[in-house]
Amino acid sequence: MKVEFSAIPKAFSGNVAALVGGDKQLLGAAQAIDKAGSGALGRAMASSRFTGAKGQSLMVLGQAGLGRLMLLGVGKGRDLDARTAENLGGQIVADANAAGQTSVTVVIDAVKGSRLTPGQIAAHVALGAQLRNYRFDKYKTKDKPEQKNSLTAITVAVAGPAEARRAYDRLSPAIDAVFFTRDLVSEPANELYPVEFARRAKELAKLGVKVQILGEAEMKKLGLNVLLAVGQGSSRESQLLVMTWMNGPKNQKPVALIGKGVCFDTGGISLKPAGGMEDMKWDMGGAGAVVGAMKLIAGRKAKANVVAVCALVENMPDGNATRPGDVVKSLSGQTVEIINTDAEGRLILCDAMWYCQEKFKPQAMVELSTLTGAIIISLGHERAGLFSNDTPLSNKLRGAGALVGEKLWRMPLGPNYDKLIDSEIADMKNVSNGRDGGSITAAQFLQRFVQPGVAWAHLDIAGMAWSSKGNATCPKGATAYGVRLLDRLIADNYEK
Ligand code: BES
Ligand code: MN
Ligand code: ZN
Repeated sequence: MKVEFSAIPKAFSGNVAALVGGDKQLLGAAQAIDKAGSGALGRAMASSRFTGAKGQSLMVLGQAGLGRLMLLGVGKGRDLDARTAENLGGQIVADANAAGQTSVTVVIDAVKGSRLTPGQIAAHVALGAQLRNYRFDKYKTKDKPEQKNSLTAITVAVAGPAEARRAYDRLSPAIDAVFFTRDLVSEPANELYPVEFARRAKELAKLGVKVQILGEAEMKKLGLNVLLAVGQGSSRESQLLVMTWMNGPKNQKPVALIGKGVCFDTGGISLKPAGGMEDMKWDMGGAGAVVGAMKLIAGRKAKANVVAVCALVENMPDGNATRPGDVVKSLSGQTVEIINTDAEGRLILCDAMWYCQEKFKPQAMVELSTLTGAIIISLGHERAGLFSNDTPLSNKLRGAGALVGEKLWRMPLGPNYDKLIDSEIADMKNVSNGRDGGSITAAQFLQRFVQPGVAWAHLDIAGMAWSSKGNATCPKGATAYGVRLLDRLIADNYEK
C-alpha cells in the first residue's frame, strides 16, 4: 500500500476520514464538510451514539462530492498518543478494506491537548494503517477479489506534511520487519522447518548482519546435547542460528537476543492431544520475533552491538525420540532429567543461552519464547510474562513495551519455586511434579543457565504471538509481538 503525505486540501473529494474530538467537537475537515452540507454531520451525530469518544467511528454517506466519510473519535486531546494514532490508522484500513475502497484521504487536524504534533500523529496513523494492511494469502488459489485487501493508496493530509514524512521515515522500517516475522510465524510446518527458517534468516546478510548456522554435527561436537535431544525424533535437522550486528562502540558488550524456534511442537513422546495441535506451527514465534528485530535494528543501522541466537528444532515422536526419564548433559555441564518431552522449549533454550554467553559475553540477555500454556491462564492475550533477575532491565523492557503497545507483566522468581525442579537422579528435571506455577518453574529452569553478572529477562509470549481475534493494528493470525519491543529496547537504552 502506498502512503503519501500532503497539505490539507481546500476542498475534499473521494473517501475521507476525519477527526472528531470528545463531546462531538468537529475538527477542521469535519467542520468544513459539515458546513458545506448545511449541518449534515451534526444531524448524523444527533441520530447516533457517536460522541467522538476514543475508539468510536461513524460512517456518513451521501455528502456532496464525497465517497464514504468516516468520522473518527479521538476523545480528549491528552489521550491522543502514538498508540491511539496507530489504532486510528488501523481502524480506517480495516473499514476501507471491508467496504472495498481502493483509496482514502485521512485528514489530521490539530488536536488540542495532545503531546504529539499533527505531523507525528499523521506518521503514526500511517504506520498503524500499514501494520493492519497485512494478509497471508500465498496458499490461496481461489480468492475472490472481495477477499483481498482492496486498499492500494492512502493519503494523510496534514499541515506540515514534510515533518510527517520525516517522522514516518523513522517509523516505517518496522513495517517490513513485522511482516517478515508474521510471514515466518504464519507458515505451516511442512514449509517452514529449521533449515528453511535458517535459510530465510540468511537474507539479513544483505543488511550487514553476520549470519552463521550450526547444524547437528557441529552442535554435537560442541555439546549442545539437550537441544539435540529435542530434535532427535524428527527427520528435519536441528539448527542453531547465530546473528551478529556489531555497529556500536568497540568496547561495549553486546545485548543478546535469544529465540525459541520450535517449528512444530507435537509434544514428542509426551504427545499433545489432537485438538488445536495445529497451533503448534507458531511455536517458533520467539525466534521469529528475534529475526524480525535483527532485521529492523540492522535495517536502520542502529549504533549498537546486538547478537542473536535462535534454537530451531522440530519436536516429534518416533523410534529415535527422547523418552521421558532420559538424562542428558547440557552444554553448561549440568545434567537434565527430561520428565516431559513436551516441555521442550526450556531444553533448547538452555543450550542456546549457554552457547551465547560463552561466545559473546553479553551484558544483557533477553529471551523470547512461546514457553507455557500456563502464562495464557495467568495473563490471557493482553500481556507477555516477564521474568528477570534484574530490575533495571525489567523496567527498560516495560517502558519500551508501553511505547509500542507490546505490554509486559513482571512475574516472580525465587528459591522456593526453584526447588521444585530438583531431580532425584540428575542436577534438575525439566518439569515440576504438579502444574502449579507452571510458567514460573519454567523460568526457574532457564535461570539455572544464566551466568553471573548477566542481566537476564525471559519473556513468555505464548499468549501474544498469535491473535485469534486480531486487533486494530494486526489482523487475525501472527502478531510479530516482540519485534518493535526489542527494537525500541535497543534504541532507547543501548545506542550511543
Ligand atoms: N509450546 C508449548 C506452550 C504453548 C501452549 C504455547 C499453548 C502456545 C500455546 C510448550 O512447549 C508446552 O508444550 N508447554 C507445556 C509445558 C508442560 C508440559 C509443563 C504446557 O504449557 O502445557
Ligand atoms: Mn511443548
Ligand atoms: Zn513448545
